[in-house]
Amino acid sequence: MSKALDGVRILDFTHVQSGPTCTQLLAWFGADVIKVERAGAGDITREQLRDIPDVDSLYFTMLNHNKRSVTIDTKNPEGKQVLEALIQTCDVLVENFAPGALDRMGFTWERIQELNPRMIVASVKGFGPGPYEDCKVYENVAQCVGGAASTTGFDDGPPVVTGAQIGDSGTGLHLALGIVTALYQRTHTGRGQRVLAAMQDGVLNLCRVKLRDQQRLERTGVMKEYPQYPNGEFGEAVPRAGNASGGGQPGWILKCKGWETDPNAYIYFITQAPVWAKICNVIGKEEWATHPDYATPAARLPHLKDIFAEIERWTMTKTKFEAMQILNKYDIPCGPILSMKEIAEEPSLRKTGTIVEVDHPTRGKYLTVGNPIKLSDSPTEVTRSPLLGEHTDEVMAELGYSTEQISALRTAGAI
Ligand code: COA
Repeated sequence: MSKALDGVRILDFTHVQSGPTCTQLLAWFGADVIKVERAGAGDITREQLRDIPDVDSLYFTMLNHNKRSVTIDTKNPEGKQVLEALIQTCDVLVENFAPGALDRMGFTWERIQELNPRMIVASVKGFGPGPYEDCKVYENVAQCVGGAASTTGFDDGPPVVTGAQIGDSGTGLHLALGIVTALYQRTHTGRGQRVLAAMQDGVLNLCRVKLRDQQRLERTGVMKEYPQYPNGEFGEAVPRAGNASGGGQPGWILKCKGWETDPNAYIYFITQAPVWAKICNVIGKEEWATHPDYATPAARLPHLKDIFAEIERWTMTKTKFEAMQILNKYDIPCGPILSMKEIAEEPSLRKTGTIVEVDHPTRGKYLTVGNPIKLSDSPTEVTRSPLLGEHTDEVMAELGYSTEQISALRTAGAI
């Protein structure tokens, strides 16, 4: 079966996580992704957090499936020529170097356009244009400057970063959308363009409800669904809301049977308004369904702590899975807190290709997260990440280099 991005060639100059997330997605949609790395070293993540000596780390393998790897020293004049040939034959160049690195290599936007006016140049940077545009940025920095950290955690504790890689993988997703959009526009204009996804912007995009709340707070001085209401205090900025759900459907994380020893024996419980009477029945508080202090969402807001304490008395008598089974019968929205172990072992996720087992020549079998976006006409087959430089000769031959020229370039340290 054909793939959605068949025929699209990506010059993948990405490293670490944000850029590789983007190009891996494009590869899963069928693009030919050629990852350029430095000979002898490669993407720094190949050797970071290694669990097996001298074997590409899971960090690397899990972000670089379905790609080809070529080694080119782009600071070597002959290496630069190879890169120029690649620029001339690819549709998109994706990079997430520190600001200015591509220019310092000699590949400015103007130079790239001279080489290939159809080329789309897509970049992840920490910040967009402005006072911080020259700064290097990693995941947690992005979470801090994008509004996630100041709004995550509990009111009586420090800001907290989340385990979800919203700065890296989140921005990679944004960039991938920018790239396919630019490819679509090119079908009309015939021209390439620059695509920028700044990590601060990507995180803020995912935190937009908190900017909504900032403006509500400034207008009304209070946000009734926040745990600070009614007994705590609101300051000038959106506070950390613990585990409260953001919208008009109050929720909280509650203990389940076994919580004393199992750190994940918890469930997220949402007191959705339409099923309030059912919730009252399940927890044995039938009288709350009609009591004036509890019967309506507005009446319940000042009592949320007591309500969740009462519901927790019920959830603590059930395992998280038992509770979910019972609550689902009544359409009460809830979610068990799943550990990574439970997720890795979940058969339904294997069946859908969301978790995939991959075989690797030096690592053996390992699990990875497959494509979270499923296209009915472009199914994803996850194939292993490339070894460093595994496809150098193959790609060079496609560019028209002879075997002798390839060996000469290798001897000169250009590839
Ligand atoms: N041949 C020769 N040189 C190469 C090369 C190759 N194939 N590939 C990379 N290089 C060089 C670059 O040209 C650069 O050289 P320069 O500094 O002399 O110009 C150098 O390697 C290092 O690149 P850099 O991007 O600065 O790496 P770093 O390890 O110092 O910084 C980041 C890492 C992630 C902080 C930085 O790349 C960054 O801020 N990126 C943008 C934001 C981002 O994506 N962050 C999240 C990462 S998950």
